[in-house]
Amino acid sequence: MPNFAIIGDMHMQFDETDVAFFNASDYDALLFVGDLASKNPDSMFRLLPIIEQLTKPAYLIPGNHDTTGIRQLLGELMHSDMLIENGASSQIERMQKMQSALKRTQLCGYSNHTLPQGIGLVAARPFSMGDAHAATAQDPLQLPVNFRPYVAKAHGVSTLSESFVRLKSLIDAVNPPYLILAHHGPYGLGSLATDMWGADFLPQETDFGDHDLAAAVTYAQSIGKPPLAVIAGHMHYPTKHGKKPKQWHATKDGITYINAARWPRIFKHEGRDLRHHVRLTITGEGVCDAVACYVATGEVLTTNDDRAVAPQ
Ligand SMILES: [Fe+2]
Repeated sequence: MPNFAIIGDMHMQFDETDVAFFNASDYDALLFVGDLASKNPDSMFRLLPIIEQLTKPAYLIPGNHDTTGIRQLLGELMHSDMLIENGASSQIERMQKMQSALKRTQLCGYSNHTLPQGIGLVAARPFSMGDAHAATAQDPLQLPVNFRPYVAKAHGVSTLSESFVRLKSLIDAVNPPYLILAHHGPYGLGSLATDMWGADFLPQETDFGDHDLAAAVTYAQSIGKPPLAVIAGHMHYPTKHGKKPKQWHATKDGITYINAARWPRIFKHEGRDLRHHVRLTITGEGVCDAVACYVATGEVLTTNDDRAVAPQ
């Protein structure tokens, strides 16, 4: 029975205490959904030497805050090609720096991997952050991918429809059973702010999930090769407005969906620091079981009652 630790958006909340816990744990591998950095994209480079101290196999897909500059992020939000292009060259440099800093950790994105115990891993589109225009677009698959200049140069993918084609080929090539790892989750898991990838920052609640990833999952089902689980983060628990509990795990058509982003990831509860991650267990029958874990000194609390472990 393989066990995997899923570490949600860190935004700089990961340190030597986490490394010591995971190195001593029973996990077969660690899956990072990305967003290591704070608002300063260079902050991430302080975290990489810490992640490199992990002795377990580790896989990391970059999020929209990893190697991307503030102008690019603004450009994505405003749909401004000029701003997106403006900051694109610094992303190439930062990605090279990130790649050379990661010797043990596998940097993923549009890539297939084999996890311990023969579980396949499809790493989906890197740097994804969703697109507010998708809700009103006639064909969302015709929209550009986030951070198109870099993704087009590095992966030859410019639109969500091209991304879907790339994801299909990764699914064709992977050996089941397998997981999908992404930064942002797929469209179709609900449009409420409290749903897994429902927008909680727009005036109107909307399903903010990615259409290329949703189409890829539908394709995988259509060829009788569904993933065991789709794992991502990006939309933080709790909701931005109102701090309501956000759904973080669900099962739909036999596929487990996990949003591992809880922020703050490290928070005080009953006088001590708790550190969040999700434990994913795959049973012999190919069934996934996900439970939220809160690590305190010398103890791991596991509960799916999110409200029982609220920051204080
Ligand atoms: Fe993100």
